[in-house]
Amino acid sequence: MLDYEKTYAESIKNPEDYWEGIAKELSWYKPWSKVLDWQYPYARWFVGGETNVVYNALDRHLETPVADKTALIWISQDMSERKFTYKQLNTEVSKFANGLKSLGVKKGDKITIYLPRIPEQFIAMLACLKIGAVHSVVYSGFSADALKNRVEDAQAKIVICSNSYPYGKKIIDSKKNVDIALAENKTVEHVIVVERIKNNTNDTNSRIKHIKWNELVTSQSTECKTEVMESSDPAFILYTSGSTGKPKGVIHGHGGYMVGIYATLKYVFDISPDDIFWSTADAGWITGHSYILYSPLINGITTFVYEGTPDFPDIEIWWRLIDKYKITKFYTAPTAIRALMKFGEEHLKKYDFSSLKILGSVGEPINPEAWLWFYKHVGREKIPLMDTWWQTETGMHMITPIPSVKLKPGSAFKPFFGVEADVVDDHGNKVPPNTQGYLIIKKPWPSMFLDVYNNPTRYKETYFEKIPGVYFAGDSAKIDEDGYYWIVGRNDDVIKVSGHRLGSAELESAFVSNPKVAEAAVIGKPHEVKGESIKAFIILKQGVTPSDELKTELVQTVRKSIGPIATPDEIDFVEKLPKTRSGKIMRRVLKAQELGLPVGDTSTLDD
Ligand code: PRX
Repeated sequence: MLDYEKTYAESIKNPEDYWEGIAKELSWYKPWSKVLDWQYPYARWFVGGETNVVYNALDRHLETPVADKTALIWISQDMSERKFTYKQLNTEVSKFANGLKSLGVKKGDKITIYLPRIPEQFIAMLACLKIGAVHSVVYSGFSADALKNRVEDAQAKIVICSNSYPYGKKIIDSKKNVDIALAENKTVEHVIVVERIKNNTNDTNSRIKHIKWNELVTSQSTECKTEVMESSDPAFILYTSGSTGKPKGVIHGHGGYMVGIYATLKYVFDISPDDIFWSTADAGWITGHSYILYSPLINGITTFVYEGTPDFPDIEIWWRLIDKYKITKFYTAPTAIRALMKFGEEHLKKYDFSSLKILGSVGEPINPEAWLWFYKHVGREKIPLMDTWWQTETGMHMITPIPSVKLKPGSAFKPFFGVEADVVDDHGNKVPPNTQGYLIIKKPWPSMFLDVYNNPTRYKETYFEKIPGVYFAGDSAKIDEDGYYWIVGRNDDVIKVSGHRLGSAELESAFVSNPKVAEAAVIGKPHEVKGESIKAFIILKQGVTPSDELKTELVQTVRKSIGPIATPDEIDFVEKLPKTRSGKIMRRVLKAQELGLPVGDTSTLDD
């Protein structure tokens, strides 16, 4: 076990040396000539180096004993299994990659993956990277409108989807969403449909050619050369919400990204070759990209995926799977822990958790009560719990313990090796211990995002202008007298609902898309299970009468516009909203009023 303080001190004496040492553990077609080119605010790592995430996730294992090891275990909702060794996964990926090539896909082309949690989701992601195409995974729970925006922004050439799929007791007709999303689309040439459930796929868009996944791969060769990529060539785009406007496309590259995610999983989860790693996230989010798929494979271990939800077929399903499949590392979100906590401890007691060695948490602050419950009843007070703070933009864990350190429930510990962070005031000055301030990262890190797709201005303004010279994370935090970080939550208009990231502006425009709504203001309110819930203040158009039915209609409007993850909990009809003289809604004032907190400075308030 590493000594954190000693390794950290060494790592930041010269972070470039530290990261170079890690990069040398991985495979490159051509070595880099320069470790870091930092042209603020753009960092380019391993300049001149050539590699591919897939070269490290699959190819390099094929000549080693890892080739015959299980790479992926997938369990369906009805408990059937699909297992792939590294060799088998490589074959499936190669066949699908050749299928994509047969449709004319070339290096740099954008491909939207709108699939549920099934093996094809991972095969498709790997296949895109293998041939140098750039994937944009859209979470399968997003609505047709949300999908449409993301396909259009990425100018995708191909959409990969499923006809329909089981989700708990429901069957989701996701192909219907694709049809709506692509009705007027100009860039998509092919839709590839996985038949998760056997039924006919209706081709409702005659301009776009539809192909069944199975038909596309049947006659393809099992050999496919992995494309040589420059270290900073884009690997994927992932859309995430910000405080203003539409979700933005965060771009990650090949070289730096793989170095950061490889090292963090290795040290934070103390990876050993026989690990069976289960991250309960979905590949629609960054956790799924970095720690369900890419890093476990780069590290040559087995990644475990369960198709269903934590409460289907019953609330014991996770515990049953940990016991049955001898999971060694289990990584989940506070919201799930809080939801399961409500059922007490009895349902856990009959299961054997002796295989577990490390637990992890991600996505939102974990309250000490949930931390202790997880540690005590799942970890049986024997194994460490890693509370990992990071973001879509950071690509990798940034503030996190490693298993050897002393933990404090509710604290995400300290920065990972080679990462320099701090908590500062408005002017960028370090705040005293236990004082709330802005969380910043002082120097580039390898998995740092490359840009915001199609919007470099937003990249600069959101992350690098509020406090010049550093990366502004958008979170508030405190550092205690022992140097431990305590993440308070977002300091912008981003709301974290059950760990899902949503923007107030995005929710407001969803409300306003209903013709009965004149104006909307949305805030996040603390919620016992979800972390935060959505509350909306609505001004109706003249002549529209407020009613409970209208509230239900507006909930549907938002679900249709974004998806069920954005379901509002409360709607208030109001006559006026607090605004600045220039007309900007002061959500801060609404939130303070709602929570009974001091309203603070109101000198810019219009009325
Ligand atoms: O507010 C922080 C919260 O999640 C935000 C990033 O969200 P997203 O890009 O969707 O990525 C989530 C998965 C990495 C952060 O700005 N967050 C994430 N992890 C933690 C957290 N807040 C507190 N503690 C954490 N461990």
